[in-house]
Amino acid sequence: MKKKIIVLTGAGMSADSGLKTFRDADGLWEGHDVMEVASPQGFRAQPKLVLQFYNERRRQLLQVEPNAGHKALVELELKYDVQIITQNVDDLHERAGSSKVLHLHGELFKVRSTAPPYTVYEWKKDLNLGDQCEMGNQLRPHIVWFGEEVPQLPKAAELTSKADILIIVGTSLQVYPAASLVYYARPGAPTYLVDPKPALTNSRDLNLKLIASKASEGVPKLVSSLL
Ligand code: APR
Repeated sequence: MKKKIIVLTGAGMSADSGLKTFRDADGLWEGHDVMEVASPQGFRAQPKLVLQFYNERRRQLLQVEPNAGHKALVELELKYDVQIITQNVDDLHERAGSSKVLHLHGELFKVRSTAPPYTVYEWKKDLNLGDQCEMGNQLRPHIVWFGEEVPQLPKAAELTSKADILIIVGTSLQVYPAASLVYYARPGAPTYLVDPKPALTNSRDLNLKLIASKASEGVPKLVSSLL
């Protein structure tokens, strides 16, 4: 049986593809306060601005490509049972060819109704006020905003608890509950962190090996050492 590897990825995974991280620029995300564009209150206060913001993110995502780090994780499947758990809302892991990807914080190319039954739709174009589900309710980005439930968390925790090896790439581990996932890993499970400016604060209990480089360089190197 193949060994199980869990790869926990954050914004730094896609930085080398040209997508900005959240916390590298004074807490601003593409010039916006994250609470303004990534919270239910922000959406209630300025729905048009929030939809516009995600429209820009969606257009940008259509123009970028997976980087060498995303591609290396696909190679890892040759020898391991690889499950990716990503905080990213982009589809770059899927486009690179990874077979098991769990999105903790939703997906940019999906939208959902703002009222029950919260139907989810594939969506690659702009989303505007007036775009409705079949029941006539406004659609919103299928993104987990600050203060909202993380429906995939129990599944992610269960998967992490079964990992033989844990790889963490490009996340500041500052946003809970996603950051708490590392604590579900089996005590002593080998853990690798690929990040040029690693946040080690809550990783001190882990059997951790640090690879202080960019995802597009550090991940391929790590993958070849594991293969
Ligand atoms: N390669 C690898 N890591 C990088 C790179 C790179 N080229 N560039 C930056 N990083 C690292 C940074 O050092 C930082 O540790 O990526 C991390 C990015 O951290 P954040 O911007 O906080 O992103 P993330 O941890 O994914 O944020 C979590 O916050 O806003 C919410 O829901 C959003 O999913 C997001 C969550």
